[in-house]
Amino acid sequence: MQRQATILITEPSHFNVSYAINPWMKPESWAADPVAAHRSAMAASAALQQALQQAGCVVEVAPGTAGLPDMVFPANSAVVLDGRAITSRFRHPQRRGEEDAFLRMFDGLRERGLLREVRQLPPGVFQEGAGDCMWDEARGHFWAGFGPRSSHAAIALMAEFFGREIVPLELVSERCYHLDVCFVPLSGGEILYFPPALTEAALQTLRSRVPADQLIEATEDDLRNFSINAVNVGRHIVLSNSSQRLRAVLEQRGYTLIEVDLSPFMLSGGGAYCMTLRLDRSSSRSSSAEH
Ligand code: ARG
Repeated sequence: MQRQATILITEPSHFNVSYAINPWMKPESWAADPVAAHRSAMAASAALQQALQQAGCVVEVAPGTAGLPDMVFPANSAVVLDGRAITSRFRHPQRRGEEDAFLRMFDGLRERGLLREVRQLPPGVFQEGAGDCMWDEARGHFWAGFGPRSSHAAIALMAEFFGREIVPLELVSERCYHLDVCFVPLSGGEILYFPPALTEAALQTLRSRVPADQLIEATEDDLRNFSINAVNVGRHIVLSNSSQRLRAVLEQRGYTLIEVDLSPFMLSGGGAYCMTLRLDRSSSRSSSAEH
């Protein structure tokens, strides 16, 4: 049975860039004209919502919270599979207030029947949700980033919770502080990734599990455009404005790209994938959306 993909996004009224916890964050650019920046963020989020609907997704909108601007990145709120969610523990104090806010929101989703179980990771480990734990639907396992944000210790806890294999990949740089900035598994089994973001051991792991013709190398430009931070649903890929080269590579593989100007959110170090959380991920492949 085919179900429509259900994607959570956060209402962006409380978004701003007022601190810097990754090297892409530009509080000074936001502060130069906060009214205009806010206006373009609202428009960009609406455009993303539309693009996701165009890709065949049902969009669920969660409320934001004043003083927690990065709640617009629900990819960091939890890891969800088979209706079960495990909620995050943030590395930086600036984002820790999101833990309870998202936990309450997920309890609400459970009450509405959109999830069947919600658990919070114990304190003392860091794990920043689906941004650092990405489901590979073609292979039936997670890939988990660790290093800059999420701790390695969280991986075993999540593997136990989900009863699924989680393959760890160590990240080497603050620019690629979450796995989703530099890595995305696609529905056809390809992996688009930025090689310099991973340790030599992580690259070896990747090569031992993914045939060379399914590994697509992204460039420095793709990283800067936040194009790797893409939402793939079936044959659709929703992403921030990307290069002609990347568009051609992905189209040649049979994907249809839907590009959105997400520059206001790139000022915070995020793109399309960070701004979403897939709620209907299923470990059996039958839940993939339309084509
Ligand atoms: N400003 C946010 C942070 O540094 C951006 C998060 C983007 N999320 C992501 N999954 N990459 O935490």
